[in-house]
Amino acid sequence: MRVPTSVNNATVFAPRIRRLLDDHLGDGVFRIDADTVGVADPAVMDAVLRARPAGPAERPTFKPLRGKEISRAEAAAVMQAVGQDVRRALKVAEGTPDLAGTWPHVAHNYLRDLVFGTDPFRLRVMVDRTLELTTKLTWTTIAAGAALPGPRSGSALAQRVHGGYAERRHAMGMYRRAAAPVCFTVSALVTNALWLGAPFADVPDAYVIAESARLLPPSWNILRVASPEFADLHPLIRPDDDVLLLPLLSHRDPSLWDEPAAFRPQRWATLDPEEHPGYVPFGHRNERCWGRHMVLPLAERLLRIVRATGLAVHPRQRTAHVPLAGLLGVDDLRVVHT
Ligand code: HEM
Repeated sequence: MRVPTSVNNATVFAPRIRRLLDDHLGDGVFRIDADTVGVADPAVMDAVLRARPAGPAERPTFKPLRGKEISRAEAAAVMQAVGQDVRRALKVAEGTPDLAGTWPHVAHNYLRDLVFGTDPFRLRVMVDRTLELTTKLTWTTIAAGAALPGPRSGSALAQRVHGGYAERRHAMGMYRRAAAPVCFTVSALVTNALWLGAPFADVPDAYVIAESARLLPPSWNILRVASPEFADLHPLIRPDDDVLLLPLLSHRDPSLWDEPAAFRPQRWATLDPEEHPGYVPFGHRNERCWGRHMVLPLAERLLRIVRATGLAVHPRQRTAHVPLAGLLGVDDLRVVHT
């Protein structure tokens, strides 16, 4: 019988993340460097996020694409298309696919095939993990793919690729922007859950996900670039300071959580994830993640398959690495049938 990972296994964070945890856990507002202030105090986080809406460059999904700002109407239409694709995918019979192997890669590819599997290769390839390497590589792939006419069938997101070359190229960029998070974020969330707690106690999947997003929040930081209004919110913040909000720290702050370092999904039986101070895995209530309604059902589907097919981390894997990346997640997890 495996000993629960949260007790005996070691999560090895990238040095910069480790330093934040070692030096600043419990600090509400602190200086990170000459022009960045870190914030983990729930009231100050709330005040920063309320002070003004996110600017175009601060929006991860719909930041400008090749210098072109994305209108709210276009963003809404893209989200509607990907939402439709996810709902259709969730109707496909679940079965018991074999998802043993190296996670998050296996989970990522499962989600890609489930949601975008009917799309032509030149679109599906844009959701590949290898394209994370450079923006240039992504854009080269997009430019090559856009040389061909738009697909006649496939996902609702794929159907948006039509018109002349420039239009198709833009639509393919948006395809990448909306399809990639479905695979990257959900596979990160469930891989983190597996590492922290599999085999899971008999608790609802929603609690497992909420607890995984607490200890290893995929969006571990939220950046707001310097704005004069932030300086009024705390004496340490100067008008030219960027502000880095850190769910990584607020989610483990001993003053906000009982047994903050323990993976205890049961805690969510009595806590409200929408209201708990400092718990912001999906951002602030003013402009919370637009994709969160897709995340939970997809993550729950993966967890059901994990439970049904008896998957867990290989008993000899005692450490897992969390690299410094945009998304916080354990890498190279060996997942096997128990
Ligand atoms: C584990 C899954 C996810 C997490 C933890 C997450 C987290 C977040 C957070 C923290 C924000 C607020 C950012 C800010 O205020 O600066 C946000 C915003 C947003 N998210 Fe998510 N997200 C997830 C999945 C997704 C997915 C799958 C999509 C789309 C398919 C998506 C689309 C968006 C959009 C459109 C916004 C609004 C800002 C923007 O334009 O990017 N998210 N998300």
